[in-house]
Amino acid sequence: MCGIVGYIGQKNAQEIIVGGLRKLEYRGYDSAGVAVLTENGLAHDKAKGRLAELEALLEVKPLEGTAGIGHTRWATHGKPSRENSHPHLDEKQKFAVVHNGIIENFLSIKEELIAKGYKFISETDTEVIAHLLADLYDGDLESTVRQAIKKMRGAYALGIMSEYEPDKLIAARLASPLIVGIGEGEAFIGSDIPAILEHTRDVYILNEGEMAVLTRNGIELSVAETGEKIERDIFHVEWDLVQAEKGGYDSFMLKEIYEQPQAIRDTMGSRIDVDTNKVVLPEIKMSAEELSQFNHIYIVACGTSMHAGLVGKEVIEKLVRVPVAVEVASEFRYRDPIFTDKTLVVVISQSGETADTLAALREAKKSGVKVLAITNVVGSSVAREADEVIYTWAGPEVAVASTKAYTCQVISLYLFALYFAQVKGTQSDAQIAEITTNLLELPGKVAEILENPEAIREFANTLTDVTSLFFIGRGLDFAVTLEGSLKLKEISYIHSEAYAAGELKHGTLALIEDNVPVICLATQPDIYEKTVSNIVEVIARGARTLGFAVAGDEELGKTVDSVIHIPQTLPFLSPVLSVIPLQLLAYYASAARGLDVDKPRNLAKSVTVE
Ligand code: G6P
Repeated sequence: MCGIVGYIGQKNAQEIIVGGLRKLEYRGYDSAGVAVLTENGLAHDKAKGRLAELEALLEVKPLEGTAGIGHTRWATHGKPSRENSHPHLDEKQKFAVVHNGIIENFLSIKEELIAKGYKFISETDTEVIAHLLADLYDGDLESTVRQAIKKMRGAYALGIMSEYEPDKLIAARLASPLIVGIGEGEAFIGSDIPAILEHTRDVYILNEGEMAVLTRNGIELSVAETGEKIERDIFHVEWDLVQAEKGGYDSFMLKEIYEQPQAIRDTMGSRIDVDTNKVVLPEIKMSAEELSQFNHIYIVACGTSMHAGLVGKEVIEKLVRVPVAVEVASEFRYRDPIFTDKTLVVVISQSGETADTLAALREAKKSGVKVLAITNVVGSSVAREADEVIYTWAGPEVAVASTKAYTCQVISLYLFALYFAQVKGTQSDAQIAEITTNLLELPGKVAEILENPEAIREFANTLTDVTSLFFIGRGLDFAVTLEGSLKLKEISYIHSEAYAAGELKHGTLALIEDNVPVICLATQPDIYEKTVSNIVEVIARGARTLGFAVAGDEELGKTVDSVIHIPQTLPFLSPVLSVIPLQLLAYYASAARGLDVDKPRNLAKSVTVE
């Protein structure tokens, strides 16, 4: 995710801002920039690449002043480049904006502004804010920002300044995190605590829909849209820098697990049109005719990304009735797959750099087959070489065990499947609308699960001496158990296997004996009874069972030793919910064993060798 730093006070703003951005480097970024109010007005500089590139420019031409904003960018709309990096300014360079998150309706605002004659120089959603402020300016920066915010939909955090009102910075938050730091004769903006921790430990944490006006004399908080004043207690930060980097969580993995509501929301972002309830994927360049002619899909990926592909297979086949084969990339590249001119290859990769996935992509392209990539890293090798790209906007993932990237990959596959179904006309408008409405409710439901981790933690604490356990499920539940099992193996080092519940009796049932833990997913109504029969089979052999059922299911609890309920949704959307407790289970099992959750032995985040 991008980083924001802002400063207004008596000291050299550029130094404080660049220092703050350095503290955010651990989050990953591809470009950086800073704007400062100088004697000659608003001045800025930015550079693609590391912060050192920006610093080299600033050394030659420093920006002298005591108020400014800065940003490290992790590309979403538009490639990593100088033009796309922040701050963004209006044409007259009177307003500067730094922004995290996504403006969902930026395209329609951009069209309006273009019609009025505004010229855009970047591909970003952020640039619309700078032009919008210039367009709306009524002589009062605060009220102009409020008007602009009323027009914008999405999830964002903003730092804004204007040459017209040089003694003021504005911070505003809708969904993406933002804090303001309190100093003496000075004030700070930060997207994260580490950015400003060196200067102050007293902060206000902005809530959704709130705005802060920072001057050298203090900070005023208000409701962004109405201007109603807000009183807020000061939050005194006790964390050290390392704790602060993890947002107060014990590990990056736990932080990333808890970032999922936001990450999922960002990934759906502007891609679900809330007026029509349809999916829009402007990033897909091929025509509707071209897309609709594909009659066979290979999904190719590794590890967790491959598991997301398994969910994608079920969803595409259900909604579009086109057969999908999911393949492990390291196998696919060597096995002479059958390609026709109606084959589409979909590669999935969080990093976009996994050697096996990249090689599979190249094999497909060599055979003249179209490749669609789903990846989290703009400008990665996979993104550059594929014909089409859908980005997961999960933000940087630091922990080796992938969590938020997985859920965002699954969301991207839903979006692609829906778009494909729209193009081919295989689902009615009403069916599409029902699915998109339910998709939009998922972030809230994920948050609900994350609020109640206790039962999972308790179960995980019983696993400290366990050497082997099993996950079972059918259909989509089976796909999710594969991911749950991989997570557990990766970070707790407990041997585990995921099995299609109905297949267990063909061999593996021999391993079930007294007290062997079996985690049973039963969220799919069409195969519910069959799954319960399989659960009964393991119980009869002495298994200790933890079941996952959908809220309202009072039956499963009568069969298994303990049951955890996930919120209701459409059955084929449930993987996004049922995987969350399994991620938590792996985390707590690893933590209970005192292991390094973020850096498991023998594993790497990005495997760039064969
Ligand atoms: C490594 C990571 C896994 C990841 C896999 C694929 O093995 O440890 O967590 O799922 O690579 O990575 P990708 O970046 O291509 O999704």
